[in-house]
Amino acid sequence: MQNAAIAAAGLDWRYLAFEVAPSQLREAIEGCRAMKFIGLNLTVPHKLLAVPMVDVLDASAEEWGAVNTIRFEAQDPTGTWKPLGQWTQSTPDRIRTVGFNTDADGLLRALEEDLNFRPAAKSVLVLGAGGAGRVAALRLAASGCRELFLVNRTESKVHELASEMQRRYPGTQARIGYPTQTVDLVLNATSLGLKATDDLPFDPQRFELRNATAAYDMIYRPAETPFLSRARSAGCKTANGLGMLLHQGARAFEIWSDQKAPTAVMREALQKAIYG
Ligand code: ATR
Repeated sequence: MQNAAIAAAGLDWRYLAFEVAPSQLREAIEGCRAMKFIGLNLTVPHKLLAVPMVDVLDASAEEWGAVNTIRFEAQDPTGTWKPLGQWTQSTPDRIRTVGFNTDADGLLRALEEDLNFRPAAKSVLVLGAGGAGRVAALRLAASGCRELFLVNRTESKVHELASEMQRRYPGTQARIGYPTQTVDLVLNATSLGLKATDDLPFDPQRFELRNATAAYDMIYRPAETPFLSRARSAGCKTANGLGMLLHQGARAFEIWSDQKAPTAVMREALQKAIYG
């Protein structure tokens, strides 16, 4: 999707994938700085590790505690830091790294676009309190959800997350466990559903999907997990994680290029690459 965006914008860039061991993340970032890369995306398990490795943390990375996008910048003759992607003359050797997080806002955009869901005053059941679940719950609380129900296999993580939410976003009720009444949205942020043999990400004895208006699965492959298929049968509006993947990427493209991302082109490329 990034190469499709790059081509549509007429940029002479290339987006490439590299496999980096966590123990060599710092060296990898430094290598990219030395080679004057324009930017980077990072994925699991690098998003948390990168936080102390960048020179500057954008407010988005600071707020969600994870970096999934890096921008390289250099100082122009007036001393202003400018992204390398917008540099026309030859770049100086002193380059800084700025860390951003585009996942959290990507999720909100996808929920709005695909499910017409806006968090203000809503109640949500969040399944999973790992890296993705934590950012999702905090982002929803920051946008004014009334009530968040938190469920995770490892209970200690849910307690930690509930305390962090209560401290940072006291306007949202953080509840541990399944809701007894209906919710506006149930969100799967666990990895359950990636494999055909996986269990459901929730306990059907303790929560019925007909008690949710909408269901979102951050997983996009398979296109419909057993969780989403059950939710659809139960009458929920459903969407998979493709929209979140798209919007986190679109925002990253804008951070590097300072141009509006061609989201239609990106979505088409993504669909082709993932679903054929
Ligand atoms: P990510 O950054 O993608 O969120 P993660 O931090 O490893 O990755 O989180 C994975 C999530 O899926 C967690 O909520 C995890 O539950 P635990 O915190 O108990 O590990 C959940 N998960 C993974 N495998 C699971 C399984 N077999 N049963 C229940 N939950 C599972």
